[in-house]
Amino acid sequence: MDSTRENWSGQLGFILAAAASAVGLGNLWRFPASAATYGGGIFLIAYLILFFGFGVFLLMTEIAIGRATKLSPVEAFRTLNRKWVIVGILGTLVPFGILPYYSVIGGWVTKYFAQYFFASLAETAADNPANDAFFSGFVGDFGQAFSFCCAFGGACFAFILMGVKKGIERSNKILMPALLILTVGIALFTALQPNAREGLKYFFIPDFSRLSVNGSFSPLLCAKTILAAMGQMFFSLSLAMGIMITYGSYLPRSANLPKAALRIGICDTFVAFLAGVIVIPPAFAFGGEELARSAGPGLMFVSLPKVFAAMPCTRVIALAFFALCLFAALTSCISIAETCVASVCDRLHWSRRKGTLVVAAYTLLAAIPSAWSLGFLDKADYVTNNILMPICAFLTVVFVGWVIGTEFIRREITADGEHPFRVYGLYRVLMRYAAPILIGLIFVTCVFVKL
Ligand code: ALA
Repeated sequence: MDSTRENWSGQLGFILAAAASAVGLGNLWRFPASAATYGGGIFLIAYLILFFGFGVFLLMTEIAIGRATKLSPVEAFRTLNRKWVIVGILGTLVPFGILPYYSVIGGWVTKYFAQYFFASLAETAADNPANDAFFSGFVGDFGQAFSFCCAFGGACFAFILMGVKKGIERSNKILMPALLILTVGIALFTALQPNAREGLKYFFIPDFSRLSVNGSFSPLLCAKTILAAMGQMFFSLSLAMGIMITYGSYLPRSANLPKAALRIGICDTFVAFLAGVIVIPPAFAFGGEELARSAGPGLMFVSLPKVFAAMPCTRVIALAFFALCLFAALTSCISIAETCVASVCDRLHWSRRKGTLVVAAYTLLAAIPSAWSLGFLDKADYVTNNILMPICAFLTVVFVGWVIGTEFIRREITADGEHPFRVYGLYRVLMRYAAPILIGLIFVTCVFVKL
């Protein structure tokens, strides 16, 4: 146990910090793009079933492992069972894989914020983000994309170096509700636009014929959709990447884990859902289904400026949105970077300062290929979310279900004698049988079956 660890200020501080880690680019940028690509309503249903049936339990499990060991992932798994240290190593590799391209996208958000601050926003001007060529022009310019990535990544590491955990906790109390309120407001505006119908229909109503190829049901397409929803869920809830283990390690024993996990998860899912309502309808209205499905990582950045352009007080609303989006991205990026720094420092016994500087140098160097090519960024995102995270989640559930035993997690959850674990029976079946079988089947189908 590491007595130098600084604890969250109680359950609320932890919930807000973990929600701030969870709510980020995964919700605002990644969820709408994945939902648009993987069939809209079908993806939404798969996501919700996965979240309530599995995600929230995995979230609780990871927090419990962190709280029980008070260690970062590698050391936590090593302490629990030396032979399974690989799960911790994998869980640490994932944030190292995400951090560089996350900083690149954080740079895009920074650029949009700056653009709404400085540009004239004249309707036909090339520097107006609502202009179709703006996004491709910006990401195609390596110098700009990388400079903004450095600005965003630099800010993230500066916060970590300054040790502003308490400051972030305090700002979470204001900025998280502000983000929620603004997102609800913009979602209402988008949903009430006359041309929003087609996009909303696509997002809300599952059309199962989309799982067919040449008129017959395709198990592979179905597995790919579920895998995409699962990867999105891991990314969005900060699971299978060591973050919740690290955050849980700072959590006092008195916290009610099932309740905390449910609140964090619902808050995260609600923001993702609203982001879908905001981003998908305008993409449909302005470019049709083809554009929405194929836009990929750029969807939010192409679609949202059009919504803002149609709103009164474009600049004020766009600035408020991108400022809050920047805050959400920064708090998430800090949690990803914090996991990397904590792992390096725990393992190599480095000072936090040295660990932070080394991880920062790595991040900026490793961000170069993603800033250079959108295709590389997309691949890095695919490999971490659809390959590494499912493997890490699979090993985690097998480890809990069959190695340390679900009883270990039950003891941790009920440790202070005040919080019963009411759904323990269901949890045990889930961790031992349902989750490993589901993840294994989906993963194997996607990797080994060809269309
Ligand atoms: N969970 C974080 C996000 O959604 C990584 O951005």
